[in-house]
Amino acid sequence: MSDKSLVHSVYDGIEEHDNHLPNWWLFILWTSIVFSAGYWFWFHIAEAGPDQLGEYAAESAEVAKRASGSTPASDDMLLTLAKDSGVLDSGKQVFQANCAACHGAQGQGLIGPNLTDAYWMHGGSPMAIHRVVADGVVAKGMPAWERTLGAERVKAVTAYLLTLKGTDVPGGKAPQGEPEQL
Ligand code: HEC
Repeated sequence: MSDKSLVHSVYDGIEEHDNHLPNWWLFILWTSIVFSAGYWFWFHIAEAGPDQLGEYAAESAEVAKRASGSTPASDDMLLTLAKDSGVLDSGKQVFQANCAACHGAQGQGLIGPNLTDAYWMHGGSPMAIHRVVADGVVAKGMPAWERTLGAERVKAVTAYLLTLKGTDVPGGKAPQGEPEQL
């Protein structure tokens, strides 16, 4: 470093040199510039990647999806699910696979009671239906489903039953229980 030709100035005996910037430093500088141009183009011009709000919305949708499995059921939740076509599709599949044998393919009743009339032995409110499906009436031949199907599918099939309720399928089994008090 004592090459005098490179000395820029001297002050109080301190030499200021005019060195080249180190290559590693220049490398980081130019890489950052190239990266920032690509980043700017990708996120702000092409809008190919999600912006911060987009990422936040995607993450909160994911959290809500995971939470709905563990949130305890409520009348409001079940009524909301009964308007969700995805939930109703899976509820219908669960019904056909597990319930139709006893309640009929349309819920019109067979061994089990008619689920399309206005009469209920255990109550016709969303939560009353949910409780019977989850816990069963084992002594009377209605199995408990929460353990075999899991909370998610019990909610889905309950939501599906809410859409059958009151459809009064022709040729259904005679009413059992009490008319639902509204
Ligand atoms: C092995 C036959 C059988 C199967 C399978 C079955 N159920 Fe039942 N279910 C019954 C019987 C029997 C009753 C009547 C219980 C009683 O007398 O209290 C009943 C009652 C019910 C009730 C109450 C009806 C009321 O009037 O209060 C609902 C709701 C119900 N079942 C839904 C389901 C759903 C949903 C499934 C499928 C996940 C299912 N059941 C599968 C036999 C069955």
